[in-house]
Amino acid sequence: MDVTSSRALPGHRPGPRPSGDRPPRLPADRVPRHVAIIMDGNGRWATDRGLPRTDGHEAGARSGWEVVHGAIEAGVTHLSLYAFSTENWGRPQVEVRHIFSALARRVLAAARQRELEEMGVRVRWAGRRSRVPGYVADALGRLEDRTRNNTVLTLTVCVDYGGRSEITEAAAALAKDVYHGRVAAESIDEQCFARYLSVPELPDVDLLIRTAGELRVSNFFPWQATYAELVFLDTLWPDIDRRDLWRAVEIYAARTRTHGRLPGASA
Ligand code: IPE
Ligand code: IPE
Ligand code: MG
Repeated sequence: MDVTSSRALPGHRPGPRPSGDRPPRLPADRVPRHVAIIMDGNGRWATDRGLPRTDGHEAGARSGWEVVHGAIEAGVTHLSLYAFSTENWGRPQVEVRHIFSALARRVLAAARQRELEEMGVRVRWAGRRSRVPGYVADALGRLEDRTRNNTVLTLTVCVDYGGRSEITEAAAALAKDVYHGRVAAESIDEQCFARYLSVPELPDVDLLIRTAGELRVSNFFPWQATYAELVFLDTLWPDIDRRDLWRAVEIYAARTRTHGRLPGASA
């Protein structure tokens, strides 16, 4: 572990692992296309060290960069990170403010944006746009614009995201289109509905990871992750690095996915 406190956080992007660890060698069809992560355990990580919870959120940003690199190296094309939920507004204001400022400084700052560009990352924002602080909303919106032509990895940052809110907003927008005659009610199917979600083009989640030992999905991606393989890790988020992602990918690769059919049947 190379982070002992938030003060020691490196300001650079993580390069290849000095240990020479490599991503798993897997046939392409065993690599999950879309990995989504519930990044949990920042508060406990800080409390365990006698630090304020806010330091845990600072330290957690490093793990975010790690998994972005790890995903690219492993051949994952879509990575979604649950950064702030619709329920997280219920935390003390000072913590909420700090989560947004850590996001702005450690992910959305100009230098960080350039790194994402260089890596070929396309950033998308899933979540409600009206409630997050303006400086965060503006930076996220600009980053989406700036990276729109990148194709190596689509990184969906879930900020003020809640699955029920996403589905309710989609239903309301669809109802409006039906009312105005833009969509025929009888033509509504799953594909049509999905076009109204926060990031319509997101493929289904193949692998859903939650850290910090909690066995919940906490209102994350109810539409997109209906058939995801679930991997729960005990490690607290700030202690996660790309090797943990790779281990989860290996666990995923060893699973048999039948999607309701029988093993061996083709899709
Ligand atoms: C996850 O870590 C980060 C957010 C929810 C923003 P927590 O802050 O939930 O950490 P714990 O679960 O209290 O340890
Ligand atoms: C889920 O973690 C939300 C995010 C990771 C952003 P929480 O720590 O907020 O969820 P609960 O309280 O354990 O369900
Ligand atoms: Mg938590």
